[in-house]
Amino acid sequence: MRMNAGIEALAFYTPGFSLGLEALARHRRQDPQKYITGLGQQRMSVPPPDEDVVTMAANAAARALEGCDLSSLDSIIFATESGVDQSKAAAIYVHQLIGLPTTCKAFEIKQACCGSTAALQMAQALVTLRPDKRVLIVASDVARYGLGTAGEPTQGAGAMAILVSATPKLLSFDPESGSYTEDVMDFWRPNYMDEALVDGKYSIKIYLKALSESWNGYHADSGRRFEDFTRFCYHLPFTRMAEKAHRHLARITGHGELTHADLETHLRPSLRYNQVTGNSYTASLYVGLISLLETDPIDLTGKRIGLFSYGSGCMATYFSGVVVEGYREHLRADQHQRMLGDRIELTVPEYERFYEHRLPVTGEDYATTVHTCGKFRIAGIRNHKRIYEQVSDLSEPMPAASGVATLSRV
Ligand code: CAA
Repeated sequence: MRMNAGIEALAFYTPGFSLGLEALARHRRQDPQKYITGLGQQRMSVPPPDEDVVTMAANAAARALEGCDLSSLDSIIFATESGVDQSKAAAIYVHQLIGLPTTCKAFEIKQACCGSTAALQMAQALVTLRPDKRVLIVASDVARYGLGTAGEPTQGAGAMAILVSATPKLLSFDPESGSYTEDVMDFWRPNYMDEALVDGKYSIKIYLKALSESWNGYHADSGRRFEDFTRFCYHLPFTRMAEKAHRHLARITGHGELTHADLETHLRPSLRYNQVTGNSYTASLYVGLISLLETDPIDLTGKRIGLFSYGSGCMATYFSGVVVEGYREHLRADQHQRMLGDRIELTVPEYERFYEHRLPVTGEDYATTVHTCGKFRIAGIRNHKRIYEQVSDLSEPMPAASGVATLSRV
């Protein structure tokens, strides 16, 4: 049987520091249940001053490529909405950090949280034409809204890496999809700002509209119906959003009101990791997919998964895939769950110090303090150039986190 292009390897990375949302709620004089039940979030990952989207992506990519023959790699595509340079692709830094061959192309792609899905579809097309090639997609973001804003509890950080090939070991993509694009200002980040601007309630409305439109396109393209799916993954700005989206999809497809048990079965396994990392924009849908594959108690072999990718501004895509036989042998559940469990818990003042740290934007040389728990760090800036370094050998366990108490503001 001919196999469609799909996911051969899959990994994610999130920084080694996190903040409990109960502590944040109490500090901001909010009812903790608003964040925990109302938004569906328990913790958020917080990047230390010596990590950025490049170092997070390099960590995820190094994991995904363990054991891979790099000579077949056609390109590495980096999706992000937290870009570090107006010209040079973040993919080139990652290319160097993880030692990709010089024959492998490297470039960056952007459309808010949906850039990773656009990259994935490009990769599928490429490996369908050239089944001897592989493409590495990395997606990495830091979700920042501002201290004390309504968006603050929906922050987070993380990266994912997907190896796309004609011999998928985890998920084989269906060729059909449906997309929707409309010029709206629900969420954006002007070049002169570090934090996103967002019209929160409007963004939820547009997300749901884009879901209806993308689903209609997908249904027209594939003929598949709601009941053809065993599980559903959604872009996860916060996990309650998936519940709103899934209820909406059930209604517009004539399935009325879903029960709590339906939601638990269709969605819960895909929400577990995001509930404790927070939003990671371009990576978030795929962290949800990893969570599903690694924590769902049933064997998903041969089951169809529906995936909805939403990028504010906006562009959205509904697509799907079928889980490949033997997928469980290729998961990294232990590695991922150890990474999540080993994170250092920050107090709110420690989180605020990390949050307020900025690399200088005025051109002076600068050295960062060592904090990272990952394998790569940004060591500083020299002659306007970002300096990245590898902290430990790729085969060694992640180094211990350090230096929270000694973080000094610059
Ligand atoms: N106990 C239990 N639940 C409570 C509660 C309590 N004490 N207090 C409030 N709640 C519930 C509310 O009823 C609400 O649930 P429903 O939506 O089901 O009614 C939920 O908690 C949130 O409360 P509010 O709506 O009052 O929250 P808010 O207005 O302060 O902020 C937000 C919510 C608009 C999502 C805000 O966090 C935000 O702007 N986030 C960033 C934008 C975002 O994530 N948008 C999502 C779509 S856009 C996208 O997906 C792209 C992307 O990645 C950003």
